Amino acid sequence: MVRSSGTGAGAGSGVGAYRALYSRGLGRMDAEAAHRKALQALALAQRTAPGRATLRTLGAGEAVATDPRLAQEVWGLTFGNPLGVAAGLDKNADAVLALGSLGFGHVEVGTVTLQPQPGNARPRLWRVPEHDAVINAMGFPSAGAAAVRQQLLRALRAAGTAEAGDGVDAAGRRRGVIGVNLGKNRETPLESAVDDYTALVAALSDVADYITVNVSSPNTPGLRTLQLQDDLRALLAATQEANRHTAALHGRAPRPLLVKIAPDLTDDEIAAAAEAALGAGADGVIATNTTTQRGALPEQYRDLPGGLSGPPLTAQANHVVQVLYRTLGTRLPIVGVGGISSAEDALERMRSGATLVQVYTAFIWQGPALAGSILRGMLADAEREGWTSVRDLVGSGVRG
Ligand code: FNR
Repeated sequence: MVRSSGTGAGAGSGVGAYRALYSRGLGRMDAEAAHRKALQALALAQRTAPGRATLRTLGAGEAVATDPRLAQEVWGLTFGNPLGVAAGLDKNADAVLALGSLGFGHVEVGTVTLQPQPGNARPRLWRVPEHDAVINAMGFPSAGAAAVRQQLLRALRAAGTAEAGDGVDAAGRRRGVIGVNLGKNRETPLESAVDDYTALVAALSDVADYITVNVSSPNTPGLRTLQLQDDLRALLAATQEANRHTAALHGRAPRPLLVKIAPDLTDDEIAAAAEAALGAGADGVIATNTTTQRGALPEQYRDLPGGLSGPPLTAQANHVVQVLYRTLGTRLPIVGVGGISSAEDALERMRSGATLVQVYTAFIWQGPALAGSILRGMLADAEREGWTSVRDLVGSGVRG
């Protein structure tokens, strides 16, 4: 199935060309091997100026990626545009600069665990081509905090600054905002999960513009119970305390601290998680992670373990953002993620209350032209509807 967003994602466009190539190349490889190859290609391209220039040509292009109508200040950080890369795509920070060159306004690295760990046994990633979807049971394979810290330091140096915190390099040029998503090691008992998160904040907040507490992966046993209100509030409060402490030691402001939640919560649980985030002094909520539901998937996919992502998740993730926005209003920014594959999906998520949006699965199916396709589609909407700042869209479909 080839979805066309009506905004330049059809055949003949960069996305169309990628789809044709994909079906003959990467699409025939094992899904995880294909992912590794694609990431290696991005990592290679980002090393040289011509490589980065090629990425900009394949991607949105600087003029689109930084169109003033798409730019926003959130948590004191400059986002050139609202579209980011969701956690899991670049787990070890191998390709942050490449993803920025493609036009994404931010990249969320991770999930990073404190100690290196291999993740679950393979196979653990499956394509669902009938729906442009994916099922994954990765289980946080991670190079560990120390190695990812080194990778991020290298990326920051290459971008012309050794300091994270502002999304721009020393010369004031945009390098894209870098978030770091944190998770507990599989072997860490749930009762001491908080120790992992506080140690991760101490190890990584210096090299991150923002940090995310991930309590919503379905692939680490018990992790999602940490989303329930009292546990979540305690966990976030302790993590925020570590964040403030680390910041004070370095004489800088604490990093914005976000929490990422699952789509498989009742409306009451979503509202309770939002209240817990507020009560603990968190700065934002990311919704959502993958779903354990299987919707209307063909029979052969129903018994696969793990989380489903892509278009089958769109409506559910959009609903979670609406419930969050009704609870939070403008008190905490919401990052919307889950089944966004087109400008229309991104705009709908923002009108439902998301200040920023992220993609992962659509990148697998649509390739390096995805950011350009979505951002150009958003600008076409601005022309049609007459809006001058993407910020004005946030929650506009929920009010009244
Ligand atoms: C993910 N996702 C994810 N999320 C997270 O917080 N930490 C992680 O390590 C991962 N890993 C991961 C691996 C794979 C293979 C996939 C497909 C997804 C979830 C991801 O960030 C996102 O929340 C969901 O995939 C929903 O968005 P999309 O993919 O429908 O755009």
